[in-house]
Amino acid sequence: MNRKILAVLLTAIMIVPVFVTMTMGDGSEAETTVVVESSPDFAPYDYYYGDEFTGIDMDILRAIGMDTGINITFRQNLFDSILLSVTQHKCDFGASGFTISEERKQSVDFTEPYSVIRQVVVAKAGLDITSEADVKGKVMSVQTGTSGADYAKTLTSPSNIIYQKGYTEIVLDLINGKAFCEVVDDAVGMAQVSAHPELQVYDVLEAEPEYYGFIFAKDNEALYKTINDSLIKLKENGTVADIIKYYADNGFSLDTPSYFNRVNTLFILTCHDVPFSYMANGFNAGIDADILRAISKDIDYKIRFKQVDFKDIFKELETNPSYIGAAGIFDTPERREHLSFSDSYMSDKLVVLAPKNSDITDISVLESKSIAVVIGNESDTYAESKGYAVNRYTENSAAAAKVSSGVNDCAIMDRTMAKAQINNHPDLEIRDILTDVQERPYAFAFSPDATNLYEIVNASLLKLKADGTIDDILAYYEKNGYGEGVPSYFDDESEKSFFDKLWDKFTKDFLDMDRYQYLTNGLANTLKITVMALIMGMIIGSVAAMVVSMSAQTGKWKIPAAICRVYITVIRGTPVMVQLLIIYYIVFASSDMNQILIASIAFGLNSGAYVAEVVRSGINSVPKGQMEAARSLGLSTGASMKLIILPQAIRNILPALGNEAISLIKETSVAGYIGVMELTRGADIIRGQTYDALLPLLVIAAVYLAIVLILQYLIKKMEKRLNNAY
Ligand code: ARG
Repeated sequence: MNRKILAVLLTAIMIVPVFVTMTMGDGSEAETTVVVESSPDFAPYDYYYGDEFTGIDMDILRAIGMDTGINITFRQNLFDSILLSVTQHKCDFGASGFTISEERKQSVDFTEPYSVIRQVVVAKAGLDITSEADVKGKVMSVQTGTSGADYAKTLTSPSNIIYQKGYTEIVLDLINGKAFCEVVDDAVGMAQVSAHPELQVYDVLEAEPEYYGFIFAKDNEALYKTINDSLIKLKENGTVADIIKYYADNGFSLDTPSYFNRVNTLFILTCHDVPFSYMANGFNAGIDADILRAISKDIDYKIRFKQVDFKDIFKELETNPSYIGAAGIFDTPERREHLSFSDSYMSDKLVVLAPKNSDITDISVLESKSIAVVIGNESDTYAESKGYAVNRYTENSAAAAKVSSGVNDCAIMDRTMAKAQINNHPDLEIRDILTDVQERPYAFAFSPDATNLYEIVNASLLKLKADGTIDDILAYYEKNGYGEGVPSYFDDESEKSFFDKLWDKFTKDFLDMDRYQYLTNGLANTLKITVMALIMGMIIGSVAAMVVSMSAQTGKWKIPAAICRVYITVIRGTPVMVQLLIIYYIVFASSDMNQILIASIAFGLNSGAYVAEVVRSGINSVPKGQMEAARSLGLSTGASMKLIILPQAIRNILPALGNEAISLIKETSVAGYIGVMELTRGADIIRGQTYDALLPLLVIAAVYLAIVLILQYLIKKMEKRLNNAY
C-alpha cells in the first residue's frame, strides 16, 4: 500500500517533465529549424538591435539561410559556453566571432574564414600608449575563453588579469578604472569606442591576424557542408564583403540595424574644426554637423560622422560616393573640378590671425613672415599662390597654438574659425587685411557620382533655409561665441534636470526598441521555472521525507532511506549554481532538451532536498503518541501515516514550504548561466545594450521583491486560516 503511494509519486515525477516538454512544444520544430548560439556582447559581430540578433555573423548567416533555404534561428549564450554547447549538440552550430585556432580545431570544425581581425588594446582616451611595452604588466580585463584573454597572458601577470563573462563588464571595468586596458578584437574595440567616446583604441599590439569561422560539432558533416559551401559562394559573390562594409560604414556603432533591415543613412566625412564640426558631450556638434542633422531629421535618415584629416575628405569622396563632406568647406572653382557642391548655407572669408601686439597690419608684410596654415585648406592654397613661407598643420587649433607660442608669426584661416580660436587664445586677434581674397560660400561636398543623394540633401537644405531652421542654427553658434565647448544645437542634455535625465535613461532602457520585453519574457521564464521546480520539489521532497521517517520508525526501507539521506546531504551541501551546471553540462550533456526544462529539473532537485527536511520536521512535529494510537486502533503504519500524521504535518509545515518557494524564485536568477533568458539575464542583456546598470538592476530587484511580498502575504493568510482551523 505504501508502495502504491510511492509508485504514484514516482510516476508523477517522471511525467511532469514529459508533459511540460509537450506543452512547450519544441520537439516538433527541432528538425526544420537550425539553432545557432551566439554571445551578443560582441558588436559589430554579435549584438542585439532591439530584440533582434544583429551583426556581421548574424547577417552572413541570414544570407546563408536565404541561399540554402535553411531556417536559421539564434539563441544567446555566454561566449565561453558556446563551444561546449556545440560539441554537446545543444545547438546546431556556433557563430560568435570565433577565431580559428589549432586548439579549438581539436574539438570543433571551423568553416572557411569570413573575417579577419587583429587584437588591439582599448583603454581610456588620451593615454600615452604607443607600443606594446606601454601596457606590459598593467591590470587587464578580458573575456573568459577568448584569444584576447590568451594574448593578455603574454602581457601581464595572471594576478593582473580580470576575467569577465562579457564585454559589457569589461567596458565598465575600463570606465570605472578597475582595469587599465582590455585586449580585444579590433572591430569590437571600435564598436565599444563608438558607444563610449571616453575610451580609445590603441593599435599597438604585435599580434598576428586572426580569422573567424563558424564552429560545428565534428560529427555534423551534412549541415557543415551545406553551410560552408554556401559561405564560400557568398564570399565569392561579394555578399560577405558587402555586409562587413555596411557595418564598417556605420562606424561599427551599436545602433546599426541588420544589413537586411537597414534604414537610409547620411554618412558624413568631417574633421575637427571649431565651430563647424567637433565633439561636445560625446555628441557631434558644430554648424555643419547640426545643419546636416537637421537635414537628416527632415528626410528621415540616420546620420553618421566619420572623422578624418581635412585633406583626406576630398580624397575619400572621390572613391566613395555615399559620403558627404562637411567641415566648413569653401565652394571654389578649383574644387568644383573634382566635386559637386550643395547650395551654400553661409559665407566667409580668409583673414589673418596674429598676436595682438604684432606688426602685421598690412598684407604687404606677409611676404617676410612665417605663416601657419592647415593642409589642404583654402588658406594653404592661397598662401601657396602668393609664395608665402608656411608651416602646414592638420588643424586650425594647432595653427593658432603655434602663433600663440611664437613658432609662427601669424595664421591664415576662415574668419569664423579664427573667432573660435580666439576663445582659447585671447592673446590673438583678427586682422582683416587680405585685400585680394573674396568672400566665399560654404557648402557640403559630394562626389560627382552621387546625384541621387545630392538631390535629396540639397532639396532639404533649401527647405530648411527657407523655413528659418538654418538661420536659427547659425544664430545659436554666433550667440555662443563659436567656442569649442558649445554643445550641439540639438543636444539639450546640458539643460536637462536630474529627472529628465532619469526619464531619458528609463526610455532608453525599457521603451526604446521595446527593451522591456527582455524583462517580461524573462519574468515569464522565471515563473515557469519556479512553478515547475516547486511542483517537482514538493513531490521529491515529500517522498524522500516519508521514506526517511518511515524507515526511522519501522526499521524497514534501509537502502531507499540511505539513498534519500545522501541525496539530501549532497544537495544541501553544494551550491545550486554548481548543481545547475552539472545537470546541464554533464547529466544532460548530449541532450537538446529545452533549457528551461533542464533548469526546472535542476532547481526541482535542489528544492526537493530542502522540502524533504521541512516535511520531515513536519512529520516529527506530530507527537509520537498519535502514531501509536492509530496503530493500536488497528491501522497499518502506512495508513496511519497517510490518514493521521501527514495531514497534521502538512498543516504545520505550510509556512515553511512557502518560504521555500520564496528562496526558489530568487535562486532561479542563476539560470542565465546555462543560457536561459530569465529575469536577471533579461536585465543583463539590457545592461549590455544600454550600458546602464542602474535602472535594469533596480527594476528587477523591485520585481523580485514584489513577487516575494505577494508570496509572503499569501503565506500569512494561509497561516491564519490554518490556525483558525484548530
Ligand atoms: N575572437 C575572439 C575569440 O575567438 C573573441 C570572440 C568573443 N566573442 C564574443 N561573442 N564575445 O576568442
